[in-house]
Amino acid sequence: MMAKSANKSSKSQYVCQACGAYSSRWAGKCGSCGEWNTLVEELTGAPPPGSGLSTGSRGRVVNLEGLKGETADTPRIQTGIVELDRVTGGGFVPGSALLIGGEPGIGKSTLLLQVAAAIAERGGRALYFSGEEAVAQVRLRAERLGLADSPVELAAETNLANILATLSEGARADLVIIDSIQTLWAEALEAAPGTVSQVRAATQSLIRYAKHAGCALILVGHVTKEGSIAGPKVIEHMVDTVLYFEGERGHAFRILRTVKNRFGPTNEIGVFEMATKGLREVQNPSELFLGDRESGAPGAAVFAGMEGSRPLLVEIQALVAPSPLGNPRRAVLGWDSNRLSMLLAVLDARCGVSLAQCDVYLNVAGGLKINEPAADLAAAAALLSSFSGVPLPADRVYFGEISLSGAVRAASHMPVRLKEAEKLGFSSCVIPAQGEVEKTPTTLEIERIGHLKQLAETFSPCQ
Ligand code: TYD
Ligand code: MG
Repeated sequence: MMAKSANKSSKSQYVCQACGAYSSRWAGKCGSCGEWNTLVEELTGAPPPGSGLSTGSRGRVVNLEGLKGETADTPRIQTGIVELDRVTGGGFVPGSALLIGGEPGIGKSTLLLQVAAAIAERGGRALYFSGEEAVAQVRLRAERLGLADSPVELAAETNLANILATLSEGARADLVIIDSIQTLWAEALEAAPGTVSQVRAATQSLIRYAKHAGCALILVGHVTKEGSIAGPKVIEHMVDTVLYFEGERGHAFRILRTVKNRFGPTNEIGVFEMATKGLREVQNPSELFLGDRESGAPGAAVFAGMEGSRPLLVEIQALVAPSPLGNPRRAVLGWDSNRLSMLLAVLDARCGVSLAQCDVYLNVAGGLKINEPAADLAAAAALLSSFSGVPLPADRVYFGEISLSGAVRAASHMPVRLKEAEKLGFSSCVIPAQGEVEKTPTTLEIERIGHLKQLAETFSPCQ
């Protein structure tokens, strides 16, 4: 048994591995997030060296300043990987910390090795600390990616103190990559690597170093479903930028999404394709998601969507079939199932189209996930088309949010959506009656509707 108060500054706390909340007593359920069995005892020792948490020193008076003043433009370290540079808001910012979260196997290490090589080849100093793979494994990957000759400096290390010591040696690094933050451990803490206290302490020390030295720090964080390892959520508030790398298993494309960015816009996406030689940029994602469209089949509508500042056309597919079941099936992939229920209710109550006796399947092509409410109109068009058996014109796009009254509401960025549709060879569109469409000459034939009824009426069999 451990001697009572062997170390005065070491005290025991229970930390929820899901949300990071502290508690002084153990409980089966976290009082903060409600998850079960996530509280783990962690001994928090003396604060790690350099964390600036020592107590007892007297503060000094700091200058208070106004909001207005001289500020230079944020300098940026560009990688030349266009999809990534856009997502970060123009490149990495020296002295900032960026977190890339994602499920294991999604391609984080691959992306970051490509990033390190890109920076190194542009004359920057790029350091890659791998805590998960041996040097030989990373080298093998570099060879596969055709990057073996780039001057990236590589180490397999998990000890925080060793990493900080290495960083303070030699020339200042421009880019430091830690793959992953969950493998690091600070000796001063008795908690196991991957626990909330370790992850927080390591992140804090590394961020302090990065701010002080002016290098861009990239942390990899695995998103795990089990509570055994602290997820990236617990450090999201500490870093400047949070990106998530997502993709569907079985699909080659990967999406890098900005969740938080102190130096640029959020909701931007970068699209990549996982190929045999690593991640390839997809500069025109609409082509990827529209893919090989079979024309002539009912139930497919093209949605002119927006992801951040960028237009993205995707096909929404619906299948409506009479159901033998008393309780017909509803299945949705890539869209919100509550939204589908709402849409079905609006079709029923406001347009007199009842699908209550039908199984309804809705799918977003390519495995993409759509969060935009403006997809309502395209989904409604796909449903109506499948229900009536009347195919939609293959060269038409749809967008518009549908309210519970059946009114079609204006969407953001209408001109940008139309421009993208025009660029990709579409010739007509059905869009909300409200909302500015700039006077730029467009060859698109525009149909503007104010109520979902107007769309439903064009499908005669369902009247
Ligand atoms: P990895 O970068 O190791 O994922 P993470 O760091 O997020 O865990 O990538 C893992 C997957 O990517 C792996 O299943 C193999 C695949 N892959 C390719 O398809 N092509 C490639 O060139 C590379 C390097 C990996
Ligand atoms: Mg990895």
